[in-house]
Amino acid sequence: VPKFSSSNKDEDDEVEVDSGKTKVSVFFGTQTGTAEGFAKALADEIKARYEKAVVKVIDLDDYAADDDQYEEKLKKETLAFFMVATYGDGEPTDNAARFYKWFTEGNDRGAWLQQLRYGVFGLGNRQYEHFNKIGNVVDEQLSEQGAKRLIPVGLGDDDQCIEDDFSAWREQLWPELDQLLLDGDDANAVSTPYTAVIPEYRVVIHDPIVTSYEDNYLNMANGTASFDIQHPCRVNVAVEKELHKPESDRSCIHLEFDISGTGITYETGDHVGVYAENCDETVEEAGKLLGQPLDLLFSIHTDNDDGTPLGSSLPPPFPGPCTLRAALARYADLLNPPRKAALIALAAHAVEPNEAERLKFLSSPQGKDDYSKWVVGSQRSLLEIMAEFPSAKPPLGVFFAAVAPRLPSRYYSISSSPRFAPNRVHVTCALVYGPTPTGRIHKGVCSTWMKNAVPLEKSRNCSWAPIFIRQSNFKLPADHSTPIIMVGPGTGFAPFRGFLQERMALKEEGVQLGPALLFFGCRNRRMDFIYEDELNNFVEQGVLSELIVAFSREGPQKEYVQHKMMDQAAHFWSLVSQGAYLYVCGDAKGMARDVHRTLHTIVQEQENVEPSKAEAIVKKLQMEGRYLRDVW
Ligand code: 2AM
Repeated sequence: VPKFSSSNKDEDDEVEVDSGKTKVSVFFGTQTGTAEGFAKALADEIKARYEKAVVKVIDLDDYAADDDQYEEKLKKETLAFFMVATYGDGEPTDNAARFYKWFTEGNDRGAWLQQLRYGVFGLGNRQYEHFNKIGNVVDEQLSEQGAKRLIPVGLGDDDQCIEDDFSAWREQLWPELDQLLLDGDDANAVSTPYTAVIPEYRVVIHDPIVTSYEDNYLNMANGTASFDIQHPCRVNVAVEKELHKPESDRSCIHLEFDISGTGITYETGDHVGVYAENCDETVEEAGKLLGQPLDLLFSIHTDNDDGTPLGSSLPPPFPGPCTLRAALARYADLLNPPRKAALIALAAHAVEPNEAERLKFLSSPQGKDDYSKWVVGSQRSLLEIMAEFPSAKPPLGVFFAAVAPRLPSRYYSISSSPRFAPNRVHVTCALVYGPTPTGRIHKGVCSTWMKNAVPLEKSRNCSWAPIFIRQSNFKLPADHSTPIIMVGPGTGFAPFRGFLQERMALKEEGVQLGPALLFFGCRNRRMDFIYEDELNNFVEQGVLSELIVAFSREGPQKEYVQHKMMDQAAHFWSLVSQGAYLYVCGDAKGMARDVHRTLHTIVQEQENVEPSKAEAIVKKLQMEGRYLRDVW
């Protein structure tokens, strides 16, 4: 089955390395493609600098079929780099999850990696609590398991300029690699300086009259048993409705995907990954800025006419032939601020010298402050930047390879239970809509798509999207009599709606349920109290024992879920002491952090202990899997 984001799976990875050559493996754990891009860039640079190096870029998931194979293959590695991102609540990316679990759990393998020299570059965001946890842990574990660290772990911060962090880390690496990979004779030599080439696909233009093409958008695996990020399944939108009340000036969408007959299955608490499309307005603007007609039929290729490969730093191609309209809608990230590498590619194609100079400056070390203020700080989108530099119209092969990153899938906590809705996946999504510092109205790609989706309910010509399920460990206790406490303001309520549907189904089967508390929060009862009727019904049916709502904009003071937790501290803590599970879902940077602090305070006060002891108690809850967070 072809992969949407292909890696080296099909190649023979047991490359024979000639004597005198050194094998270098560059592993990546990527979610949106940044770590993969860095891995490829690093590989290219190593290849260019060191004749001796035989470099391979490897998807951590594709590396080994099972744990034994990880062990067997890692034992043979002598020089390896790990580009690994951290997501959500300090989690590995999907493609690194299996490796990470095996590598970090039950580690009684001793110093079995003594033959290995390594470097780790982590990708994370300092705004989050577990900044670069995965990079740090992989780095420590490699060292603990006997491998030799070549350079300190790089901690890339996507809140600032992660490309600069990556460059700085690489600069430290070269002197170390010079020692290892330059031959004895020229031991005093330094490796060849390297200028990155701008990656470019080979583009073939097709005649729509001659070439028949199917609409094959990410629908490659329909009918097979399992779906994942690279093999999503095309599903229809069955229902789309507004959850906010008319008085609200914001929007929150309830969407149902129809999964009947697809073979997709999910569990309560899982996530759904959705590939949405850019809206027409965005696509049309992009077409104009590129100076190309949207009905142009083309395909992209990673090889030359004669079949030889074009170079390794190309991102995986998307399926074609397709129209430029479809390619811009489905595959191009057009609304995020461009990376420096994109500015370099634009500069190379700017016809006006002034524009080329300015673009080069923005991407240079001297232009660091301008880049950080003018591009990132003011949230200038790729399209805004292209509009500022109208003479830079890169050819499509460059645009899709080097300028516009691939539009990533977005994840949502599923807001239904398969026991209640076996043929549906429900999503609860707040519309992202608002002005940026430049005055542009930013419309979130996926939430806008959801809001505009035409449901099957209303039209046979309904909207559809490629989706896939991501498992999570955000699950109800196995013993249904265990008390549960749920904290989920706003769309953080989503997975708890699934929990409550599941409890309803259990109750109907005659299962005895333990108490369930929900702390919900919204601005105002008349505006954004989503699913109010359903919640009241859950209470009436005895599926929800207590509904505690914090309205943040009704009274003179802000009331948040954590304030309500404090009001109920004794009751709250007595339930936890009796073995209750605590679940928190929603915004990671604000709400979940504040709720976490409140939890510490409650433990301190209720147990009458020092902060350090309270911390140990909270840690223990986490270790026991009784304090679970689904945060973003
Ligand atoms: P606010 O927008 O009035 O500040 C759902 O988004 C609810 O979560 C809203 O009522 C919102 O309040 C509230 N909220 C915002 N920041 C929060 C935080 N740090 N902790 C808890 N709730 C928060």
